[in-house]
Amino acid sequence: MKRTVAPWTAPPRCTIRVPGDKSIAHRRVLFAAVADGPCTVKGLPDGADVRASVGLVAALGVSVESVAGGIRLSPPSVLRSPAGLVQCGNSGTTMRIGAALAAHVEGPLSLDGDESLRRRPMGRVLEPLARFGIGHDGARVPLRLTGPARHRAVVDLALPSAQLRSAVWLAGLRVGVELNSPPGARDHTERLLLDAGADLDLEGLRGVLRPSCLAPWAMKVPRDPSSACFWWVAAAITPGAVVHTPDVSLNPFRTGALDVLRSMGAHVEVADGQGLGREPMGHVTVTGPGALVGAHVDGTLALRCLDEIPALAIAMAFAGSPSELRDLAELRVKESDRLAALEELLSGAGIEVEARLDGMSIFGGGPRRAVEIDAGHDHRIAMAAAVLGGGGRGAVVGGAESVASSYPTFWRHLSRWSAAPR
Ligand code: S3P
Repeated sequence: MKRTVAPWTAPPRCTIRVPGDKSIAHRRVLFAAVADGPCTVKGLPDGADVRASVGLVAALGVSVESVAGGIRLSPPSVLRSPAGLVQCGNSGTTMRIGAALAAHVEGPLSLDGDESLRRRPMGRVLEPLARFGIGHDGARVPLRLTGPARHRAVVDLALPSAQLRSAVWLAGLRVGVELNSPPGARDHTERLLLDAGADLDLEGLRGVLRPSCLAPWAMKVPRDPSSACFWWVAAAITPGAVVHTPDVSLNPFRTGALDVLRSMGAHVEVADGQGLGREPMGHVTVTGPGALVGAHVDGTLALRCLDEIPALAIAMAFAGSPSELRDLAELRVKESDRLAALEELLSGAGIEVEARLDGMSIFGGGPRRAVEIDAGHDHRIAMAAAVLGGGGRGAVVGGAESVASSYPTFWRHLSRWSAAPR
């Protein structure tokens, strides 16, 4: 489906309540399958990705009921082995963390995905799961795993990936695990485990989880900074525009985009809100300055804004000086090759870019023409193209329906933003 985005003409001022945080929601749903009793999760994003995680635990025998503002997940005493393939759709997090539920299943667990997920690398999660004695058949989606976890494991991860760390903790929950991992990736799972009373010691890059039970939780998921970032950028590229995004996750591993936007000259105000267990939450207001300057993103900052790069690249396209993105090779294996997609999007709008294997230089100066792109299965590329077109010279966005993975109300919010009181 194609959407045409017209440039917004005067600086909007708007409050936008984005959906609940996808990363936190996946974890609170998937780990509920192995909690000690019923868990209630409210404020779940209505996107297809988290629905895939709910579908996975339901297929394992977790009973899922609607309650006001959310769902109640009641795990059975033993998870069952589902008869056929369980669909993870477009959701890499459902598949990579969900694969570790095989540790708690007596027998096979087979997971499938859409065309985009079938192309993504899975050996990175199968290999650590094999350390627990979890079998697999081939390294491509559909994955065929055989549980349960047979013994404690020591796992050294080469990639700083939160999905992989989460999978290892989930696999080791009953049998124990020692995990060594490079630093930098989001720590929602570690916070969940500690909030739920797991016997976990974290010492810098090393963690030891002894066989544990998880006390059930009742929580409201904070809103998603990766979704809010599109509005932060929309405000930052529009002098005088203001956006207020209440109740977003302020987990320090998720706030890199705010640091980047500040370094570019955007006015960013953060007010602390009521946190949820160990997960901090707050309210973010971004005001567009007269002009933006370029930014450098690499190292741990790159990990702290990995999912926000499509949005930040748009801010960089409007900057008056060049920007450098480095250490971002992982973007080549997301829902699409995001570096290639951004190169096509920005150069289509007449912005000079120079792509490398692990990043790109964006020379800025603002779009020179309207752009047309097919975002395919990549929700964040579709939303980035919309912000580029709205703040610049217009856009036609193919694959517009892909926003349903994380942010089904995006197009409605964009109409509100474009028509907001000036
Ligand atoms: C996620 C971790 C990141 C991120 C993804 C969500 C998570 O992936 O890009 O969108 O919820 O754990 P990696 O763990 O592969 O870096």
